[in-house]
Amino acid sequence: MSDFAQSVKQQADIVRIIGEYVRLRKAGAQNYSGLCPFHKEKTPSFSVHSTRQFFHCFGCGVSGDVFTFIQKIENVSFPEAVRFVAQKCGIPLPKREFSSEEEAQEGRLRARLLELHEIACTWFEEQLRSPEGALAREYLSGRGLRPEDMKTFRIGYAPDNFHALRERMQALANTEILRLSGLFSFREQEDGSPGPLYSRFRKRVTFPIANESGRIIAFTARALEAGEKAGPKYLNSPETPLYSKSNVLFNLDKARQAIRELNFAVLVEGQMDCISAYLAGVRNVIATSGTAFTEAQVRLLGRYTKQVIVNFDPDKAGANAAEKSIALLTEEGFQVRVVTLEGGLDPDRYIREQGPKAYIAALRGAKRYQDYLVERARQLYPPNTASAKIEALNFLLPHIRRIPNRIARDEFAADAAQKLGIDSALVREELKQAAAKRRDTLASARPAVSEAEKMMLRALASPPASAEFQAAAAAFDANGTYFAGLTVSHILGLLRHRNAQEPMDVLADPRDRSLLAQALMDELSPLDTEHVAAALETLRRRYLERRQRELRTAIAEAERRGDSASVLRLTAEKMQVDRDLRA
Ligand code: UTP
Ligand code: MN
Repeated sequence: MSDFAQSVKQQADIVRIIGEYVRLRKAGAQNYSGLCPFHKEKTPSFSVHSTRQFFHCFGCGVSGDVFTFIQKIENVSFPEAVRFVAQKCGIPLPKREFSSEEEAQEGRLRARLLELHEIACTWFEEQLRSPEGALAREYLSGRGLRPEDMKTFRIGYAPDNFHALRERMQALANTEILRLSGLFSFREQEDGSPGPLYSRFRKRVTFPIANESGRIIAFTARALEAGEKAGPKYLNSPETPLYSKSNVLFNLDKARQAIRELNFAVLVEGQMDCISAYLAGVRNVIATSGTAFTEAQVRLLGRYTKQVIVNFDPDKAGANAAEKSIALLTEEGFQVRVVTLEGGLDPDRYIREQGPKAYIAALRGAKRYQDYLVERARQLYPPNTASAKIEALNFLLPHIRRIPNRIARDEFAADAAQKLGIDSALVREELKQAAAKRRDTLASARPAVSEAEKMMLRALASPPASAEFQAAAAAFDANGTYFAGLTVSHILGLLRHRNAQEPMDVLADPRDRSLLAQALMDELSPLDTEHVAAALETLRRRYLERRQRELRTAIAEAERRGDSASVLRLTAEKMQVDRDLRA
């Protein structure tokens, strides 16, 4: 973190900043709680700690500092979040656009990578027009694309050649930058360093992927041939400093204007579906590019509209993807309708076979997602028998439960009951029980952490210079065995060796962050050297008791084996443990 960001963080009051988005109530000496803005809930599991300056949700596991919060809720980058918070607190921004050398460096790298993508895109387009691109041109026109359509989407061709693209780019950037672009592949050498670069995309039609403002940040490339030798049908750029698959919606740059104007978006799976629909006049169409629709994509879309028509492939994978997307979208308060095209066709083929008019008519006939799901439940579990009805209901319940609004939820439940031929009182009862069960499993999924462990966590999460930290760290280094076999053993290790890093930042696993947050929010006893010493003593006793039991079993076993040397050694150790425990 830059010095500027650091100083903004110190001056900002996280409770006040978060308080503008979440109604917070005091829940302890230094912590506040409220309803989590990142997932739907009725009882508060979102906590903010005023002195430690972090937030954590025990429901969905998000946590972080004031910048993380702003990044998530305002959907902005880190530097933007820093500026945002600085402005809120009246802290003047540094003169330079970038608040640190590091950020400037990143900005320069991104700019370089954007340039390279632009050049690569032009080069691919040239290849498509070259004699070598004949096969690809034929393929694309076979799919109904005219030359001007290829131009609109800047479709290109990556020739069957390992070196041509690198030769084109060699003079433009050094090897490291070329490697970071994701346009090349390489093999790792024996010493772990990257080997020579070669073209990632070969003998493939290339589709550029743009960010919201239309700059190219990645490619997806379709194999011209099927079969194992050709590799996957679609090959994507890897994650790069420019591109993260789960944060991008294909065609959003071209569609966003229309999405705003029409106040709805059409969501399809594949880029070819998207391109065909767009060319058929559906200007508000975007693609997930694959099956998994992510929360980040939902939030991105949410900046333009809260209404979506989902039009995925009618196959099993498409139906599953549709269900997941419906769940994500409804949870974020979207109104969702669903289209299933006749004849088992995907949008691309449907448009080619039935024409744009038929497709637009099909979109007009989109069903409410509730009706789509009930129909799907009836398909999967034809409700002829009592047990099939229960299965169908179980399929629907998670979707029903997810609806934030109670009236809408009851309506869906009543409707589902009627269509499945189930008594609606029964459905309501199931809903209640399912909710209770979910609370139970949530509660029991949280492993128990003793007060002594919590004290250790709090001590090791303190500033490294503090006395509590020193005491805990010394004990941890001197006798790590006391801390083995605990629910939080590995967390203690990570905290002990974190150097100057923020405690929360060294924990990657959300469950670990939850455990630490729980300990930090819990202020039953004060954090001072006396309490830390008492906690250490408790853990030491517990370790000795555990060891005593282990030794008893080991001695009995050694006796059975007639191994008198071991019996002697183990007995000596046990006497020592007994003495330590008495002391
Ligand atoms: P599909 O297999 O349905 O492809 O995958 P498609 O869109 O019908 O492709 P065409 O029409 O044969 O060209 C749907 C989407 O899943 C992603 C792509 O974004 C594709 O459009 N996908 C599929 C991949 O990322 N990799 C693959 O190997 C296959
Ligand atoms: Mn498809």
